[in-house]
Amino acid sequence: MDSSTNHLKILSVSLLFSVLIIVESCHPVDREALLRFKSGITSDPSNLLQSWAPSSDCCATWAGVTCDPSTGRVVNVSRPGLSTGDDFPVDTYMSGSLSPYLGNLTSLQLLDLSNVKDLRGPIPPELGRLSRLTILFLDSNKLTGPIPGTFRHLYRLNKLYLSNNHISGSVPPSVFGSLRSLVELGLSGNRLSGKIPSSIGKMGMLIKLDLHENRFSGGIPSEIGNLKNLKYMDLSENRLTGRIPYSIGKLSSLVLFYLNHNKIRGSIPSSISGLGSLVFCQFSENKLTGRIPASIGNLTNIQRLILENNMLGGNLPHTIGHLTTLTDILFSNNHFVGRIPSSFGNLQSLQILDLSRNQISGPIPTELSKLKNLQSLDLSYNPLRLATLPRWLQEMRLFILRLAKTGIEGPLPRWLSSSSLSTLDLSSNALTGKLPRWVGNMSNLSFLNLSNNGFQSPIPSEFKNLSLLMDLDLHSNRFTGRLNSVFLKRIQDPLGRFNSINLSNNMFRGPIDENVGEMEAMTSITSLILSNNVLGGSIPKSMGKLSQIQTLELVNDGISGKIPEELGNATALGTVRLSRNKLRGGIPKELLNLKGLQEFDVSHNLLSGRIPPHKANIPASAFSGNPGLCGAPLPPCKHR
Ligand SMILES: *[C@@H]1O[C@H](CO)[C@@H](O)[C@H](O)[C@H]1NC(C)=O
Ligand SMILES: *[C@@H]1O[C@H](CO)[C@@H](O)[C@H](O)[C@H]1NC(C)=O
Ligand SMILES: *[C@@H]1O[C@H](CO)[C@@H](O)[C@H](O)[C@H]1NC(C)=O
Ligand SMILES: *[C@@H]1O[C@H](CO)[C@@H](O)[C@H](O)[C@H]1NC(C)=O
Ligand SMILES: *[C@@H]1O[C@H](CO)[C@@H](O)[C@H](O)[C@H]1NC(C)=O
Ligand SMILES: *[C@@H]1O[C@H](CO)[C@@H](O)[C@H](O)[C@H]1NC(C)=O
Ligand SMILES: *[C@@H]1O[C@H](CO)[C@@H](O)[C@H](O)[C@H]1NC(C)=O
Ligand SMILES: *[C@@H]1O[C@H](CO)[C@@H](O)[C@H](O)[C@H]1NC(C)=O
Ligand SMILES: *[C@@H]1O[C@H](CO)[C@@H](O)[C@H](O)[C@H]1NC(C)=O
Repeated sequence: MDSSTNHLKILSVSLLFSVLIIVESCHPVDREALLRFKSGITSDPSNLLQSWAPSSDCCATWAGVTCDPSTGRVVNVSRPGLSTGDDFPVDTYMSGSLSPYLGNLTSLQLLDLSNVKDLRGPIPPELGRLSRLTILFLDSNKLTGPIPGTFRHLYRLNKLYLSNNHISGSVPPSVFGSLRSLVELGLSGNRLSGKIPSSIGKMGMLIKLDLHENRFSGGIPSEIGNLKNLKYMDLSENRLTGRIPYSIGKLSSLVLFYLNHNKIRGSIPSSISGLGSLVFCQFSENKLTGRIPASIGNLTNIQRLILENNMLGGNLPHTIGHLTTLTDILFSNNHFVGRIPSSFGNLQSLQILDLSRNQISGPIPTELSKLKNLQSLDLSYNPLRLATLPRWLQEMRLFILRLAKTGIEGPLPRWLSSSSLSTLDLSSNALTGKLPRWVGNMSNLSFLNLSNNGFQSPIPSEFKNLSLLMDLDLHSNRFTGRLNSVFLKRIQDPLGRFNSINLSNNMFRGPIDENVGEMEAMTSITSLILSNNVLGGSIPKSMGKLSQIQTLELVNDGISGKIPEELGNATALGTVRLSRNKLRGGIPKELLNLKGLQEFDVSHNLLSGRIPPHKANIPASAFSGNPGLCGAPLPPCKHR
């Protein structure tokens, strides 16, 4: 063995030795920084930082802390608001603030304090010193103040999540301009304002951009078109104005594009055809105008196209019919005109078609009958002038059919009896004749709206067979007879109890059954509106048992007798309208003092006595027309 190999051996042994020593010693600057962070934590109920004891080696025994063995520097700190339960992680929290000392962890690559829930105060600008950081997760806390301008030094960052905090101010343009390695950026659910800096176009690696639910204003910078790798872009729920930039057409990798709930104007650019990867597109709740460009037909992967509540107009482009991957078309409440293109019949994947509240004219192309996967069709509030329900509808297996105010006339077609519909809205048409006995065969109905029509019959006893029905609106027809076919409806426990009933503006006869409050179908009702009928009789005491009822309206029903004090037991009541009847006696103090009472009207009855003292702010007009009532808000009672 010559001396040089010996030398090497000694060298490597001493190297190994020194490494071993360093492994056991946490760098004092890092230990100090982490202990300072710990001392800023005022509450740690799950002992997430218990192992962080000054006497022990931060690299060896501190939970969530990892060091580089060769330097003893802390590289990763991961203490999200999860504590390891026996088998699965349990949600927990820590209270406190972020110590500026964290900025001394200059070898840090990963800092994950997400979902700790109660980290408060500002993000210390000192974190900008962590120039080796690749991952920074501070989301789901209560951090305040701005995004520090010093973040521009974090040029190695891949992922930055600050979502769901109370962060405010504008984004420093230099920050977006410097984070050239950023792949994922989540700033949603904060209070960020000002413009989206045009420097955003420099983050060319970005795949995920989530700025939703902030207060960003101004336009979408056209530089966004430079983000060639972008797959997910959510800018929804801000205050963005201006137009959709033409440059978005360059985002050929974009899968999800949400702009909903902003104030974006102008038309959808024809360049949208470039978004060949787009699957989810939501531009609803904006001020978009103009036509949908025909080039939309190039979005060969699109599934959901949601444009509702804008001011889009013109004819629907027939090229939409090329989009055979489409499952949802939601175009409600725009200014579309003309016919529905027959090409829509090619949309073999379509499940939801909502073109309601436009100016679309009829007839409906029969090609729509080819949509074998269609579950929900809503063409309500269009000047379709249908006259009759299209017969081909019976071959489809729709769950939801809404054709309110589409010019349907005459009796209900018999084929409905064997339909699978769970929602049927034919309100505001010119339907006439009887509510047929076979209505009871529509056994899947849970929502029925036939209001504003010309029906003229009693409710047939078969109606009771609608054991899944929960919402019934028959207002403004000429229905007659008793109400028990409705109230005594069967249920399919736990389903089929009424949520709402509106039978107002008809010619129903009473009295309301004394046991109405005990009937199975009625026990969960939240809204019962029976105004403008010829009920007579009195208000049943059992109504006090309707524990969920929020709205009770019995206006102008020819009801006499007293207002039962038992109504005060219906503690969910917020709206009570009993005006224009022949009610006598006093107003029960139990009712008038219900906690949630907001609207109360007993005007034009024969009530008498002192209005019980109450906290709710009820105008005098709500008591007027009762000659015997006195006391605030009416004039004081005369003492005799
Ligand atoms: C620290 O975190 C980074 C980023 O997640 C990871 O790549 C690296 O392996 C981690 N280092 C150690 C020593 O755990
Ligand atoms: C670490 O950070 C704090 C606060 O930012 C600073 O006061 C301190 O001098 C720094 N240096 C060391 C070695 O702790
Ligand atoms: C859109 O598709 C048509 C054919 O359907 C094609 O001629 C046209 O070039 C496409 N446009 C773009 C921008 O891809
Ligand atoms: C009601 O719905 C069920 C389940 O979706 C379905 O199997 C049944 O055929 C429907 N009933 C009618 C009358 O269509
Ligand atoms: C039924 O339709 C009418 C008019 O079209 C509408 O005003 C009402 O809100 C609808 N009822 C329910 C319960 O949705
Ligand atoms: C309704 O159902 C009953 C009982 O199943 C049946 O006899 C009757 O023919 C059905 N009526 C219609 C119009 O489908
Ligand atoms: C429907 O209701 C009628 C009358 O209430 C009843 O005789 C009949 O058996 C019911 N039909 C079904 C299918 O439940
Ligand atoms: C009930 O019907 C009346 C018309 O009689 C209508 O004014 C009212 O808005 C309806 N209420 C609800 C909650 O649908
Ligand atoms: C309902 O109210 C009346 C009178 O206010 C009271 O005597 C009765 O005990 C209450 N009933 C229930 C079930 O709460």
